[in-house]
Amino acid sequence: MRKIIIDTDTGSDDAIALLMALSDKNTEVLALTTVFGNVSLKQATRNALISCEVAGVSVPVYPGMDRPLIRDRIEAIHVHGSDGLGDAGILDPKLKAENVHAVTALIELISKHNDLELITLGPLTNVALAMRKAPDILKRLKKIICMGGAQLGYAAETEVAEFNVLADPEAAKIVFEFGVPLIMVPLEVCLNGDGRHGAETILDELDLDSIKAINTPKSEFLLKISSSLLKFHEIYYGDVGLELPDPCAVAVALRPELILNVYPANVTVDTSGSLSYGQTVVNTKGGTVLEDQIYVANVSIVSALDGKGFKTMIKEALR
Ligand code: RIB
Ligand code: CA
Repeated sequence: MRKIIIDTDTGSDDAIALLMALSDKNTEVLALTTVFGNVSLKQATRNALISCEVAGVSVPVYPGMDRPLIRDRIEAIHVHGSDGLGDAGILDPKLKAENVHAVTALIELISKHNDLELITLGPLTNVALAMRKAPDILKRLKKIICMGGAQLGYAAETEVAEFNVLADPEAAKIVFEFGVPLIMVPLEVCLNGDGRHGAETILDELDLDSIKAINTPKSEFLLKISSSLLKFHEIYYGDVGLELPDPCAVAVALRPELILNVYPANVTVDTSGSLSYGQTVVNTKGGTVLEDQIYVANVSIVSALDGKGFKTMIKEALR
């Protein structure tokens, strides 16, 4: 049984990702840790609890950081709605969050388990702080699967920066350079980035119709909370499409056989505060020596996912 923790800034695509992980029979989700990001920490925690209720499971939810390490907070309510769940009037959850900070919970859980995998769906503030506080313990993580960054210059938030990394570049830099095997699921795999890969993971009108036909509380929930994401896509592309970055990361973690292409690279994050603030700087010369610098691959970048298998995985999770 795979054991995972998910760190999430629960907006609408996070909630779908949580449903997928919480419904997977071969995966034990030990905890959810929440962080500011798409919405405030309070809202992200509420949405994580709602996702547990919809999935029909009770997993401990630990609230973490409500702001980045250094920069001012940014959010994405224009994408996810002011409540992060598409302003669909979803009722408050009955489940309650734990009274332990996410950073403490991460350190305690990782110290107690071998072979633990961490999936990150939001800004990396909680994870970076845990790494700074207890590096020897965090080194025990088997791997980190991170939805974050961009590889080819399609990054959505700025010309070069993806939201999760831009929301706390200093934290992302700590995590990317930490030394635990890190699988980066960049934005292009999930969106219309280069027009070749991402598009295959976008749910189209037919997919949404077949989800409607599943007709379960989980499928209804997905459709309700996606309205804001769908509107956002329509404004940009003029058609129906549901882009799902965080579910792509869960698919990579839980169904690695869906990965069609992955390559090693040296990735760091620009924190210099210039035009490229928050950019994941990708060097693919991993392992070769250039002048006096040795470039070591520290990250595996997923550059293509099996879209059909990905959509099947989502639909199975909704039944
Ligand atoms: O850039 C994509 C990321 O930011 C995802 O984690 C999504 O939830 C978001 O708003
Ligand atoms: Ca997210």
